[in-house]
Amino acid sequence: MKFIIEHCDEKVWEWAYIEYKMCSEHIGKENIIFSNIKRKSDREKLSKLGEVHKESLADVNLPKQKTIILDPEAKKELTPSDIKYEYFVFGGILGDYPMRKRTKKMITSKMKGCKIRNLGKEQFSTDNAVFVAKEILNGNKLKNMKFIKPLIIKTGKNEELILNFSYPVVNGKVLVSKELIKYIKEDKGF
Ligand SMILES: C[S@@+](CC[C@H](N)C(=O)[O-])C[C@H]1O[C@@H](n2cnc3c(N)ncnc32)[C@H](O)[C@@H]1O
Repeated sequence: MKFIIEHCDEKVWEWAYIEYKMCSEHIGKENIIFSNIKRKSDREKLSKLGEVHKESLADVNLPKQKTIILDPEAKKELTPSDIKYEYFVFGGILGDYPMRKRTKKMITSKMKGCKIRNLGKEQFSTDNAVFVAKEILNGNKLKNMKFIKPLIIKTGKNEELILNFSYPVVNGKVLVSKELIKYIKEDKGF
């Protein structure tokens, strides 16, 4: 089973890199592939986290009958029986609210013939989508998992950042990268 992150930006922003680190931790360095990484410096950096390719998935001969794209626009939900597929593709796309169907536009529409699945109606960050998909493929049901939305991060005395996505709650703790929280608090933007 390989998880593929099809990066959809010219550059790998620091925010995305922090999420990709989490993806690699969740699924394991040997099971993750980053595709469409155009800059050499980004390819070098990401090689610490998994296999890296300059090419987009649309330009390589991925066996489509063995591939599932995780797309919020899909009609069918991912289920444990989907573990029979070999490749699971996620958009390396920073979230937007409301969603602009970018997974569909930038990935699904270019990869005709693959199966597509959703992870419920709520939007996850790429790293949390990887975590939730892994849990489902390991037999955990979406309806038995706990989530919160939004995540509010205090960034100053009278300031906060509202992340309007769904976050898994695991053993009573919200699943979010500590490094990302630090990054946001230091107000580096992305
Ligand atoms: C932050 S989301 C970006 C979604 C994007 N805003 C859109 O309109 O499609 C990053 C990636 O996580 C996965 N993802 C997040 N939430 C999902 C959901 N509810 N169902 C399926 N995939 C999801 C998709 O692969 C998506 O490309």
